Amino acid sequence: MSANKPVGIGFIGAGEISILHAKAIHAIPEARLVGLFDIMQSRAEERAQLYGCRQYDTPEDLVKDPAIDAVFVLTALESHLHYTRMALENGRHVLVEKPLGATVAEVEEMKHTAERLGLVCVPGHNMIHEDSLARARALIQNGDIGKVVSCYVLYNIHHSEERASTLPGMVRHILQHNIYTMMYLVGRPTRVAAMKAVRHYETLTKEDLAMVLVDLECGGIAHLCASFAADDLSADPWTFMVKVIGTEGTTRYTYQDWVEAKRGISHSRLYTAYQGTITNEDRHFVNVCLKGGQPLSTMEDAIISQKVVEAVEKSLAEDRIVSII
Ligand SMILES: NC(=O)c1ccc[n+]([C@@H]2O[C@H](COP(=O)([O-])OP(=O)(O)OC[C@H]3O[C@@H](n4cnc5c(N)ncnc54)[C@H](O)[C@@H]3O)[C@@H](O)[C@H]2O)c1
Repeated sequence: MSANKPVGIGFIGAGEISILHAKAIHAIPEARLVGLFDIMQSRAEERAQLYGCRQYDTPEDLVKDPAIDAVFVLTALESHLHYTRMALENGRHVLVEKPLGATVAEVEEMKHTAERLGLVCVPGHNMIHEDSLARARALIQNGDIGKVVSCYVLYNIHHSEERASTLPGMVRHILQHNIYTMMYLVGRPTRVAAMKAVRHYETLTKEDLAMVLVDLECGGIAHLCASFAADDLSADPWTFMVKVIGTEGTTRYTYQDWVEAKRGISHSRLYTAYQGTITNEDRHFVNVCLKGGQPLSTMEDAIISQKVVEAVEKSLAEDRIVSII
């Protein structure tokens, strides 16, 4: 890989999220989308044409192509480890969409493989790639808003049952965003207490709503909400809303600061910041591949995030508060 030539990127998986990553890569001069592979032939053809890139017959062809420097693993969770391993073992850097793995052990394996081979492997933790959150974090870390009292990371975006049918429930699919965003701002969690419900789905049996209370190492408490059940239509909507209240100040960030009156890929409105976070995340990834340095969100963060998800599942199954070990 040379600093004078764009980083060649290949997508494995060409579903909904690939649309945002393709738009991002096209906006980054230091990167080029070389090609993609998807198990669904018709989708692969359509998306390769749409993105103006080549279509590979097999994932092996993609990861072995010398034009590919880095692979984005954009498939469903079940195949993330398989493709991450394949890409790393063929000498390619990797960005893996969240949730990275089905278990903590899977995420640890990705981390150790990348370290052993000296390659970049980063989690697809896009929501924190946002200037307002960087400013919020600096305020918190400098002590400018005093001691952290509470942290709210709330996600309320209606999704159709058809769209939700290809995804896991809220705990596995959305809650990861709440967890890594919370950790980025206010640090590590120690204990969780969770509840979940089904309010909108008529045929799907997985949850469309999950809420979690989190004890934080810093002494404050966080409240996380992940919901596909309904949009918040109020005057001050908690669509994707982050708030940290401190003893000497407060900071807030919301998707509602930038809304376009058209559909997003699976949202009733286009929340401009969503694409922005993916573009910033991909630019950051390309920079880390070219110049080295620590990514904004690390594989260690992904491991802790997965531990929290598993603690939430235990809290739900056993109806009790669970410590994060
Ligand atoms: N960061 C975000 O905001 C965000 C948003 C949506 C989805 N995601 C994540 O992105 C990943 C993909 O989600 P999506 O919404 O694009 O899902 P999707 O169902 O729209 O697309 C997944 C694609 O992967 C393909 N695929 C499935 N198994 C495969 C395999 N074994 N080999 C090759 N291709 C395979 C499918 O044919 C499909 O085209 C998931 O991990 C999801 O959690 C992240």
